[in-house]
Amino acid sequence: MTLDQLRTAYIDFFVKRGHVHIPSASLVPENDPTTLFTGSGMQPIVPYLLGAVHPEGERLVNSQRCFRSQDIEDIGDNRHTTFFEMLGNWSLGDYFKREQLSWVFEFLTTVVGIDPAKLYVTVFAGNSDIGVSADERSVGIWKELFSGVGIEAKAVKHAGTKGIQDGRIFYYDDEKNWWSRSGIPAKMPVGEPGGPDSELFYDFGSELRLHETSVFASDPCHVNCDCGRFMEIGNSVFMEFQKTDSGFAPLSQKNVDFGGGLERILAAKHNTPDVFQTDAFAPIIAKLETASGISYTQNSETTRIFRVVADHMRAAVMLAADGVVPGGKGQGYFARRLLRRSVRFAHQSGREIHLSPLLTPVIAQMYATVHPTISEQAKYIQDVLFEEEKKFEKTLEKGLKELEKYETLDAERAFKLYETYGFPFELTQEIARERGQELCEEDFQKAQDAHSQASRSASAGMFKGGLEDDSDTTVAFHTATHLLHAALRQVLGEEVQQKGSNITADRLRFDFSWGHKLTQEEKHAVITQVNDWIDADLPVHHAMQDKAEALKQGALAFFGETYPDTVSVYIIGASPDADWVSKELCGGPHVTSTGQIGHLVLQKEKAVSSGVRRVYLARSG
Ligand code: ALA
Repeated sequence: MTLDQLRTAYIDFFVKRGHVHIPSASLVPENDPTTLFTGSGMQPIVPYLLGAVHPEGERLVNSQRCFRSQDIEDIGDNRHTTFFEMLGNWSLGDYFKREQLSWVFEFLTTVVGIDPAKLYVTVFAGNSDIGVSADERSVGIWKELFSGVGIEAKAVKHAGTKGIQDGRIFYYDDEKNWWSRSGIPAKMPVGEPGGPDSELFYDFGSELRLHETSVFASDPCHVNCDCGRFMEIGNSVFMEFQKTDSGFAPLSQKNVDFGGGLERILAAKHNTPDVFQTDAFAPIIAKLETASGISYTQNSETTRIFRVVADHMRAAVMLAADGVVPGGKGQGYFARRLLRRSVRFAHQSGREIHLSPLLTPVIAQMYATVHPTISEQAKYIQDVLFEEEKKFEKTLEKGLKELEKYETLDAERAFKLYETYGFPFELTQEIARERGQELCEEDFQKAQDAHSQASRSASAGMFKGGLEDDSDTTVAFHTATHLLHAALRQVLGEEVQQKGSNITADRLRFDFSWGHKLTQEEKHAVITQVNDWIDADLPVHHAMQDKAEALKQGALAFFGETYPDTVSVYIIGASPDADWVSKELCGGPHVTSTGQIGHLVLQKEKAVSSGVRRVYLARSG
């Protein structure tokens, strides 16, 4: 079973059970000020989990592209990846625990063919502080399901301290078995939905336990320990509560939110604990092996290097396909980190390899069926990434030169090299050794920790990036991006495509495909057109439309984005049918008429990368 086959099998299974297949949303959430990236399948579904009516109905299924930036430093083990696909199925006030647990068990054991004896599950132990009791309903269903395949499933409390013993179902508290985007109940903001969940684990066998190296070596092994024996492959969230000012209230509808790790289920299917050895990564690893002449399994260090490079490059390509290019701020900052870490790690292999030209075509090919947008933009993605790669290679060279200037080396200097030039500590350490000096990793770590604490507090503000809030200014700027898009196409030509946008309280930024610097006349014509439409105080109409019909009528879609069959469309103009200036597929929100935007000025125009320009607009006066 391949990655593509597994994804298709899952979607088919749930479509047969009345679900509608909805497309994956972009990795960059639309109008969600709380987060920079889509990190789970449920994120784009939140409004519907809270009660909004989904145009496709009450049963949905998809495979959602996800990116978890907090995992960057953890990459290198057998299971963590920054980018992954989450298989998701949802019940919006329709079926609940019985159907969900039975279907997921049936899918894994009969369609995928996983041996049920290797599956273990966890349930919520209850929390009297928030008035939610233990999930005995799920325990009962799991017992029946396992019994149906001849396994007596014992439910065991306090598994964490006793190990798995003869248990199959384990109770855990809200640290482990409560799901909301913000974590445990205490951390949830008012309004956030959440609920108890039931996780599924695959057992790779006790021989896999890393006795010598694992920090858990002296503890009894249990499903939630990190020794490597068990891997979480799926999670059914029973989202039935919403946080209120005074505690937890039942949601008006009881929802199911299932998330399964596509790559991890594939690893379980093939009984290989290393996701990097499944076909989710194999073509990338094979390319790296050929280009470097080094084998993935040569030693633990080469394995780690290959994992980091394969993960980061795949994620960087995925982000670029969704409009995120390496840069200094917001989402772009993470794309830059991925690229730089890849180059740095590849450098450690001692081979000169240009990663972007080597790997972009392979990744595009791997996702040709499910995400053709990568192949369609492959040249652009490769160019943008390669530009950053070349820049960073120069930086690395500079670091080496700088290092030569130092007569002595200490941890502070090593850290300065690391921070300023991204110069790997291991490399500095090696050179010091050659010079007869020994650098202590602990001191370097201390300097780094002091720095990350400072940057963590600085980045608290950064995470508010994107569409920062739904204030009047932000909403007005959002409508202005539609006018700007239309004006650019009118002045420059219809080949102009939006590549991204970003809004803060003071200005809007808009990226679009265009090959050269805008002339004064072009800039003037664009901003004059935008202001003319603002002066005309054109009404902004909203409609839910059939996607094909909307596109036929000339509605603009964000290039590279996939949309459901029924789409939300914003139309700006005197009449939504005949006399409009802008029609875009968009989730909103927008002002009701363009006069509310106020006059705008074009502050700056510049290149972002080859073929992409950026303009900044702000309110005049
Ligand atoms: N949203 C749930 C998770 O991410 C399924 O685990």
